[in-house]
Amino acid sequence: MEWIWGTWVLVAVLTVCWYRHRSVKNNIYERRGVPKGSSGWPLIGETLDFMACGYTSRPVSFMDKRKHLYGKVFKTHILGTPIIVSTDPDVNKVVLQNHGNTFIPAYPKSITELLGQNSILQTNGYLQKRVHALIGGFLRSPQFKARITKDIENSVKLTLACWKDMHVIHVQEEIRKITFEVLVKMLISIGPGGDLDNLKRDFEEFIKGLICVPIKLPGTRLYKSLKKLSIEESDGKGTPNDALDVLLYDNDGLYLWNIIEMMIPGEETVPTAMTLAIKYLSDSPVVLKQLMEENLELKRQKADSDDDYGWTDYMSLSFTQNVISETLRLANIINGVWRKALKDVEIKGHLIPQGWCVLASFISVHMDEDNYEDPYEFNPWRWEKTGAVVNNTCFTPFGGGQRLCPGLELSRLEISIFLHHFVTTYSWIAEKDEIVSFPTVKMKRKLPIKVTPLSATVV
Ligand code: HEM
Repeated sequence: MEWIWGTWVLVAVLTVCWYRHRSVKNNIYERRGVPKGSSGWPLIGETLDFMACGYTSRPVSFMDKRKHLYGKVFKTHILGTPIIVSTDPDVNKVVLQNHGNTFIPAYPKSITELLGQNSILQTNGYLQKRVHALIGGFLRSPQFKARITKDIENSVKLTLACWKDMHVIHVQEEIRKITFEVLVKMLISIGPGGDLDNLKRDFEEFIKGLICVPIKLPGTRLYKSLKKLSIEESDGKGTPNDALDVLLYDNDGLYLWNIIEMMIPGEETVPTAMTLAIKYLSDSPVVLKQLMEENLELKRQKADSDDDYGWTDYMSLSFTQNVISETLRLANIINGVWRKALKDVEIKGHLIPQGWCVLASFISVHMDEDNYEDPYEFNPWRWEKTGAVVNNTCFTPFGGGQRLCPGLELSRLEISIFLHHFVTTYSWIAEKDEIVSFPTVKMKRKLPIKVTPLSATVV
């Protein structure tokens, strides 16, 4: 009996000591200028609340609660990491700009295990800059965009053609067929068929086993597939055909790993954006009507002139671009970026001490009524005034600074092509479904819809 009392007393003494130690530490931090906040429970911190909010329709409520208590920049402890969270667009901008290499990526363990230790999302310094410049230069080139437009169109049309015979379409799942095919096509310049199916299977296996894959992958099936395909598909004249060529040419395969890392950000994000666009459009008939009118007009013009679509045709559909911007703002597919300070940094009077992590929260900025009127409303017209310019600090779905997503333009192009062909081919009815945001943004029931081909009189 006595040992039970002894254990209780020990637990009570340890808890009091822990609280005292924590409040002394907090006082010191706060005197130095570290933002206020709570570290929550020992070990788990405030993770449970963070996760619980992620499962609701208002994932940003975790940030909102603390913002009201402590201000726009606060301290917390989530996913095993003590962290300073910024919901302030100006602070986020400084974190993203990363002048003088002050911040390095510092995703929590659960995310780094998924990305792999050598993901471009985690590399820093010369390697990141080199790979970023290579990929970005390639993806932005007009020649690439001209070629990929045809590939995306083919993929979209093929997939949509199958939808008319399906009783129910689970959009989140079916749409991945388009985006995966395009990503592989872009990276390795191969078409649908056996090789693509093998690669898709290999890739899915690879994602599952990501945690234990070594950095260079000689000998693995995926490595062999990529190498073989690159040899077969190269035009033999030394001109890069695809992103794989660019990476291989640069350093004889040293960057091969980065192609795979490149597929990871693109693999989930674009299909999620397309799925959520359909979700928001299903709930907003007025938006859908205007989107259809704009796209039907282009379709008629193209039919009359017998011209092919160019990538600029899609990108010049201004209301469609506004629908995409509004989808990205509301969806918050990447809800923020994680960094670690390499030295003490002071931003707007807040101290981020050396070695501390900082989360630049995009979702908080996108859902803040200081930045957007009625932030929860799906309102593409709001972009008519401002446009979705890259240097808008209140709109950062693709991040910013030296790590600005190199897939930005490709993503917009893919979503535009998909929306154009979808809304001018079918009308649809969506079943009830909900968006969940943790651990990643997705539809609870994969967004089931039923489609009906538009009658010839409409088109
Ligand atoms: C809607 C779609 C997409 C969204 C919302 C998105 C978002 C982002 C964000 C926020 C970052 C910055 C991460 C950071 O700073 O730590 C990023 C980086 C990156 N994204 Fe995307 N992305 C999308 C599509 C794509 C696609 C299609 C590709 C590939 C073709 C891609 C490739 C990359 C790469 C390689 C990086 C790392 C850049 C670097 O660290 O230098 N992304 N993306």
